[in-house]
Amino acid sequence: MSVYAHVTGWGMAVPDKILTNDAIASMVETSDEWIRTRTGVRERRIANDEESTASLAAKAGMKALVKAQLKPTDVDLIIVSTSSPEYLFPSTASIVQNKIGASNAAAFDLSAACTGFIYALDLAAQTLKTGANKSALVIGAETLSRIVNWTDRNTCILFGDGAGAFVLQASEEPGGMLSSYLRSDGSGAELLMVPGGGSRNPASLDTVKQGKHFIQMNGREVFRFATRVMSRATKEVIERANLGINDISLVIPHQANIRIIEAAAKGLKLPKERFVINIGRYGNTSTASIPIAVSEAFEDGRLQAGDHIVLVGFGAGLTWGAVALTWTGPLPEREEVDIRRYQLMGRIRGFVMRWIRRIEGVMHRWTRRY
Ligand code: COA
Repeated sequence: MSVYAHVTGWGMAVPDKILTNDAIASMVETSDEWIRTRTGVRERRIANDEESTASLAAKAGMKALVKAQLKPTDVDLIIVSTSSPEYLFPSTASIVQNKIGASNAAAFDLSAACTGFIYALDLAAQTLKTGANKSALVIGAETLSRIVNWTDRNTCILFGDGAGAFVLQASEEPGGMLSSYLRSDGSGAELLMVPGGGSRNPASLDTVKQGKHFIQMNGREVFRFATRVMSRATKEVIERANLGINDISLVIPHQANIRIIEAAAKGLKLPKERFVINIGRYGNTSTASIPIAVSEAFEDGRLQAGDHIVLVGFGAGLTWGAVALTWTGPLPEREEVDIRRYQLMGRIRGFVMRWIRRIEGVMHRWTRRY
């Protein structure tokens, strides 16, 4: 008996605050015209002081659970893909697990930069197909505005904040995730990186002074790499799924630069209309860009049950990859899941657990003394 991994829920969350190109042009030497024509970005979202990677991730994750009509307590696995985690550790996924009340879930972060959502999706699907898990919540979330150097016009024009999520559920019904293709080439690590704050360059006054905690990028080289791998990865997953290019109704690419997407369309000999493009409104939200684009494509009526689609990304590492899947679409209506109740229960549980740990600590010290 074969088990398939279906996408049964999806959701996105972006901050309300919009930062336009004109606003950036008042901060660094650039112009709306330059940014639009070279990248396709018109504006991006920026997290406010209360928002963080975990809060956006939890919001997107809850929307995906509502769509899938899945209780948080029925989630077996949470993977958060991010390059701007809440902390060095613990994982952002554990923070999200507590926030949404997914008290039976394993949780961990995955670091594969902008390709992270593709990596996480494939990994989660494999655990469903082996029978290890019945459901997984896969989230791509970033607050890149916190690690962007707002005086560097090479990078600050590109990035934005946001989160997107998928629920994957195991089923004997054929369909869902069909094939995957994941690659990495660490020889290009220095082309796109945050060099400070890790074990190579631990945080110090010097690393901060040198701006090592900000994104550093060789834009031209990353551009060249991206245009090479996008169409190749797309072709590869289509072949692995035993499909032809004409079977694919939509390609949903990582939103890094409109010119990279256009080059991929050209390489695949597909019209641009077959691609989902929303970079104009959000900029590059890294690992969140693909699930955000999928959520919008669904809302725009561009995804129908039974459609074959390809998700394809690339990013720091270097990493790149793609998945082909058959879109499952919304499940038949079941009882609506009251996510807020689980959130509240999760919060109460977190509060009680913290107090129990405190009381146990006091008791332990007391019994040792007497
Ligand atoms: N505004 C105005 N001028 C700018 C500028 C800006 N924001 N950024 C760079 N320039 C200037 C450069 O200084 C350069 O001037 P020069 O010719 O006098 O030296 C000129 O514009 C061209 O620079 P170049 O770097 O060749 O531009 P580009 O066409 O390659 O566009 C990027 C730059 C960053 C938009 C482009 O390389 C890119 O998108 N790369 C991929 C980045 C990416 O996707 N990263 C994330 C991966 S997940």
